[in-house]
Amino acid sequence: MSEERKSETLSDELMTQVSKSLFVEGMILPATIYIKFKAGQYIPVGKKNDKAQFSAFHSFHNVTVGVYVKSSDYDLLIKSMTDLTTKALQQPTLPAQIKTKFVEGLLSEALNDLETKEITSTEQLQKVGGFIKDLCQTNPSFKDISEILSSLSPGDSKHCMTVSMVSLLIAEEMQITHAAAQDKLVLGSLIHDIGLKHVPESIRNKPKHLMTAEELSTYQEHPLLSVELLRGVKDIPSDVLLMISEHHENANGTGYPKKIRDLKISPLGRILSLADYFTDLICPHHVGSKVYTPEEAMDFISNTFGQPFNKGTFSALRNVLNKNHIRIQKKNSNAA
Ligand SMILES: [Fe+2]
Ligand SMILES: [Fe+2]
Repeated sequence: MSEERKSETLSDELMTQVSKSLFVEGMILPATIYIKFKAGQYIPVGKKNDKAQFSAFHSFHNVTVGVYVKSSDYDLLIKSMTDLTTKALQQPTLPAQIKTKFVEGLLSEALNDLETKEITSTEQLQKVGGFIKDLCQTNPSFKDISEILSSLSPGDSKHCMTVSMVSLLIAEEMQITHAAAQDKLVLGSLIHDIGLKHVPESIRNKPKHLMTAEELSTYQEHPLLSVELLRGVKDIPSDVLLMISEHHENANGTGYPKKIRDLKISPLGRILSLADYFTDLICPHHVGSKVYTPEEAMDFISNTFGQPFNKGTFSALRNVLNKNHIRIQKKNSNAA
């Protein structure tokens, strides 16, 4: 049978590309997975509730960019994968190789987004991904943390992973290469928003400019709620708790909850707050919000608020983007 006959007609606008690393051979598929045959034509490579058997489907291995799910299934897919990953990490008898595969899958999904937006190179992302993976596997309190993380919405947990990667890219550009500092930065970034699970969904799902004053003040409690939740978890360093409490502060004192300024914010907090804000502009939480390109996001930050983030931290992020832009130009001119 030809591939064309097996394909389904589906609107490109209603399909979402995901990383193929998200799927582990043999797992029960939470949604039907497709590869794109041509515009508007998709071939199912695994049906919802079936066991994934990609090894039997030769085209799956030839897919270099990603596979597709219906956009309406995306949240469900990420939620199932987050739950599965959490369970896998907590299984003492499951081989480390399998655990690694689950963590890599989730990371590569967040990573895919950054790569598509040309923020960084595959090699850099793999390095950052490996770093987060190691941290998850070696940190003794990760079992408790992953339980808390898995209770976040799919969008929020993906946001946390993306923020971790952006934070680490900024830190490396600032020559913060000490393993202990990078560990803290990645850990704090991964769990900074867990307080959101105690903010009612009706408020969380609203764009901020549509919130009433009361709803906004409830929403703005989440950095301190995150700290409260984490106080019960063993071995979280105090500077990680501090950076989490500061992740919505900004240099001009218009942040929350304490409205502290620039150098009063801890060095890790300065990086996290910029990475968080930047990530929210390029990968917004709310459907229908404007999606900024990285350049538009940088312009928006400098033009709209003057200079809301620490100068050195902001320049480091600009350098990350500039270096990447040069790398892409070089790659394109070599290919021409
Ligand atoms: Fe937040
Ligand atoms: Fe955040």
